[in-house]
Amino acid sequence: MTNNNDPADKVEVSKDEAVTRVTIRRPKSLNALDVDVLESLAEAVTEAGHDGTRVMVISGSGEKAFVAGADIGMMEHFSPREAQEFSRKGHYLMLALDRAPFISIARVQGYALGGGCELAMACDLIVASEKAVFGQPEVGLGLIPGFGGTQMLAARIGLSVATDLVVTGRRIGGRDAAALGMVSRVSAHDRLDEEVEDVVKGVLQGDAHAIREAKRLLRQSLYMPFEIGLSSEAASFGNCFDRQPTGEDRKTSLRRHVGKKR
Ligand code: COA
Repeated sequence: MTNNNDPADKVEVSKDEAVTRVTIRRPKSLNALDVDVLESLAEAVTEAGHDGTRVMVISGSGEKAFVAGADIGMMEHFSPREAQEFSRKGHYLMLALDRAPFISIARVQGYALGGGCELAMACDLIVASEKAVFGQPEVGLGLIPGFGGTQMLAARIGLSVATDLVVTGRRIGGRDAAALGMVSRVSAHDRLDEEVEDVVKGVLQGDAHAIREAKRLLRQSLYMPFEIGLSSEAASFGNCFDRQPTGEDRKTSLRRHVGKKR
């Protein structure tokens, strides 16, 4: 099922100023995640964390799929120990995205199943076409989601619907995924790139430090007690006043938004 043999060919990375674009290029296997792809993605995320990237857009090549899951052909031969290691490789990538100092966007134009759904959920935002299809079909294969799905899904859409999706393997479309809160924005299929670029532009317009901090605090709110989260927020809010916002002094920056000049 592997269609290209050089690991470097499976993931394409390009950087234009503060935007890094990562494309999974395994169209013949619907961009399925094998070890090479997981490692290349993790490498791209780590590198982007050190090169001034402010936004990363992750896409799957072709029209049909973002990512149709973990590579089934590869998994056929796994021992329990190899399967656990594969799962950990997926987790390494999901954690790298969680901690990354930039905003990651999953551009989902088609199938995002199994590991594809998990990869999309690990990103900070999902921008999906109305033709996108999300699902966690693993139980049908005698497996469970292994790249963080059991830990991320309930936090994104609530325990009840998460349980429905995981135990029935039911697929949902882009609009339903948006209604459930899994997808940040949904667009007509031919407007997907415009929608993605609108998010990229929106992020680039904000202050880099403030956005990094906001992401960190939002994510930690999922597992931190409320009181400790608030204390963390106050410290970070205070720190914002100890530095110059991007491109202008603080007074101008604050006043700009209330339309008054002093
Ligand atoms: N791993 C490896 N190869 C995969 C794959 C996966 N997860 N998903 C699809 N492919 C391959 C197929 O084997 C096929 O290759 P082939 O042409 O060499 O036979 C090719 O991608 C196209 O898939 P196909 O099933 O023919 O397309 P379809 O339009 O009929 O169905 C899907 C698309 C996504 C619904 C279907 O491929 C599917 O259900 N894939 C598995 C999804 C899944 O269970 N993921 C979780 C894995 S834990």
